[in-house]
Parts: sequence; structure tokens; C-alpha cells
Amino acid sequence: MEKFVIEGGKRLNGEVRISGAKNSALPIIAGSLLTDKPLILENIPCLNDVTTMLQLVKTIGASLSFKKNRLQIHTGQLRQIEAPYDIVRKMRASYYVLGALIARAGRARVSLPGGCAIGPRPIDLHIKGLRALGTKIEIEGGYINARGRRLHGAKIDLQGPKGTSVGATINVMIAATAARGTTEITSAACEPEVIDVANFLNFLGAEISGQGTHTIVIKGGKTLGTGSYRIIPDRIETGTFAVAAAMTRGKIKIAHCVPEHLSSVIDKFQEIGVRIEALNNTLIIDGSGEKHATNIFVAPYPGFPTDMQAQFMALLSIVPGTSTIKETIFENRFMQAVELMRMGAEITIEGDTAVINGVGRLSGAYVMASDLRASAALVLAGLAARGKTVVRRIYHLDRGYEKFEVKLRKLGARIKREKE
Ligand code: EPZ
Repeated sequence: MEKFVIEGGKRLNGEVRISGAKNSALPIIAGSLLTDKPLILENIPCLNDVTTMLQLVKTIGASLSFKKNRLQIHTGQLRQIEAPYDIVRKMRASYYVLGALIARAGRARVSLPGGCAIGPRPIDLHIKGLRALGTKIEIEGGYINARGRRLHGAKIDLQGPKGTSVGATINVMIAATAARGTTEITSAACEPEVIDVANFLNFLGAEISGQGTHTIVIKGGKTLGTGSYRIIPDRIETGTFAVAAAMTRGKIKIAHCVPEHLSSVIDKFQEIGVRIEALNNTLIIDGSGEKHATNIFVAPYPGFPTDMQAQFMALLSIVPGTSTIKETIFENRFMQAVELMRMGAEITIEGDTAVINGVGRLSGAYVMASDLRASAALVLAGLAARGKTVVRRIYHLDRGYEKFEVKLRKLGARIKREKE
């Protein structure tokens, strides 16, 4: 296992270039199984989760070459229709092959993903949507066995107990491209990654409209073709670097991003007193000013993203005053709090709400990463803390950030990767 060793207190300055969006890359790689033609996917980030997804589609039958964020992929023939447990348990988003295989081959056998550190992560809405399209689904021995040779359009509402579902919206949208007739998904997720997947499917020849709203319409049965598609930049990576500038009182330029994908996060930065300016595909962050406490209410897009919650908890732990964060999407996404408290943060958790009393400065410590965004939050805290911070189990972070410490070092951070 590896760790990051960080010397805190250095203001970040300079320019960082954002990589492609993890949460677009994963469903789009799975969606490439829909066509038997060769495809080129551009701006694919080099991340552990992408490596796992590529391993999965290769097992299923894809031939691929992945160099410098450019993926050439061709699934002329399917070798198998199974997504095995030992891959799915490493990366839940493997379930995206469920919709693609049902559409392509009329059947699939996908291991149930199980929960993860941040919550039980059920997939009942995925199954509800696929059944509505005519798929026969049985759960047996920890696997989803699906058969659906003649899918038909349907009206499907995907409202879940926590609002919309990104994964279910995407999985059903992928499968519906092969359904005869029209499918209407209501209570659809509106995240930019959902739009990106819909645009990719349309680029292949599908006929999808309404993406970005709560009602998406898919006219199925089109033959899907070939070409080269570039995925969107990663809005959560963008937000993470902006928090790094805010916490170290630095001034950085974030290039190759999409500011409008972060409107609710930009609003929060401005409320806190972080100067942030959007120029086309660039954000300029000046974290040197005085900061004020605020209250954050996590919500589905276009609300404040749950994937930015941990990073803002780190930021608010050094902002004067009392701030609160209400996490409404996942049941157990405050695990960074106890590690931040070991660095001197004053945080109390009351159910789904964290109350943060800002302190003057955090102090470096040995801390343990628990999940992807919590590990990013601990690195950010280390950058701002006095003294040395060691973040352990950074395999969590390598799942979702491309060359994280390399990009931070380019901005002046004193951070290095070491073997445990
Ligand atoms: C996607 O997860 C992202 N992952 C998550 O990012 C992100 O936090 C989440 O969307 C919310 O924006 C990927 O895109 C790979 P959901 P997903 O289905 O699709 C409940 C990161 O850090 N639900 O929108 O799994 C669920 O339990 C990761 O990059 C059901 O009840 O999220 C949750 O409470 C973490 N039944 C809520 O809905 C279902 O069938 C939202 O989940 C599906 C979900």
C-alpha cells in the first residue's frame, strides 16, 4: 500500500489542467459495448476505476488500446455476458454493463455490487427500470440474471427515497436504446455526466432528448455506429483543486474545465468569501481573502454535489465561525470528520448534519483514507495544516484522481507518494 507525505503551509499558485470526468468515462466505456463497430473515446482519465472497467469490458470481448487519455475500443464479438464478482466488488459502476449487455445480447449476468463505505448503495431502481422495458430479472447467488430479447418502450419513473438516481437513469437509458418504441424516463437525474452519456449515445446513432431535465425520452431500435467522442472534464476534480487554493490561501488557474457544471459550488465559494472568476473553460480562484462560515445542503444536480461535501468540510474546518453541512444523499459520508478531528478540527455529527466550528489552523497528523472523496479532503487538510501529514490507504484516492500529487506539486505543494 502507498501513502502521501505532505508538508503543509505552502500557498498554491499556478495553473492546473483538469482531466476527463470519471463518472462519464465509466458509463461511456460500458456503453461502447452497444455497437460492434470500432470507437475512439478521447479525454478518458487514467484512473484505477477506468482500469477496472477496461478489464471488465476486455473480459466481455472488447479489444482495446489506451494511450495518453485516448481509448480505441472495439467489441466486434461478445466473449461472455458476465460481469464477475471479483471485478464488480472492486468497482460498483461495473453494473453499467447490465444495460449494455441486455441491449446488445438480450441477456446478462452481473454480480450484485454490494454496498461500500459511504452507504448500502441499493440498485432497486436500476432493476425496476430494466424490468419495465421487458427484461426478466432474477437475483440468485449474489448475481443478477437478466434476459430481455425483445425489449419494448415504457414510461418509467425513477424517483428513489433520496431523489433521483444517476446510475439508474444511465443504465435504463443505455438499455432503452435497444427497446422497440419510445421510452420516457421521469424523475431522471440531470447531472452533466448523464447528459454526456446521452450525447455519446446520440453520437452513436441513438435518438435521445430531454437529457439535463427530469424527463428523458429515448426512441429505441436505431442501429448504432462508430466514430470518435470526447468526454467532458471532471467537475469534482475541478472543485477539489478550487478548495485546495481556498484552503492554502493561494491563487490558481484551473484550465480545461466547465464552470457551469459547478454553479452551486461556485455560489458557495463566493458566499464563503473565496474570489472565483469563470472565463470560458477556465476558473481563476483567489483564496487569499477573509472567509466566513456558511451552511451547505447537499442535493441532486443542480444542487450542491455530495461528491464535494468532504472537501468543503475540510475547508470549513478552518473558516472562522460555525458552519453546517447536511448530507442528504448517502447514509455514511462523514467518515473524513473523525480524521479531520485528529488534525484539530472541531466537528460534531448530528445524524445527517455535521456542525463545524472553524479553528485557526489544523495540525499535521497520521490520518487514514476511507473512501474516494474523504481521502481527497484529508490531502487538502494536510496542504493547509501546520507540519507534516501522512495520508494512508491512498488507493481510495487513486480510484478517482489522475496524477493528483503530480498536479499538486506543479502548483507548489510539498507532497510525495511513498510505499507504506
Ligand atoms: C453516482 O453514483 C456517482 N458515481 C457518485 O460518485 C455520486 O456521488 C452519485 O452518483 C450521486 O451524484 C458514479 O457515477 C460512478 P445514485 P450512483 O444512484 O449512481 C439511492 C464519486 O465520489 N439509490 O444517484 O450510485 C442511493 O443509495 C461517486 O465519484 C437507490 O435507492 O448514485 C443514493 O442514496 C460516489 N436505489 C441515492 O439514491 C437505486 O437503485 C443516489 O444514488 C439507486 C440509488
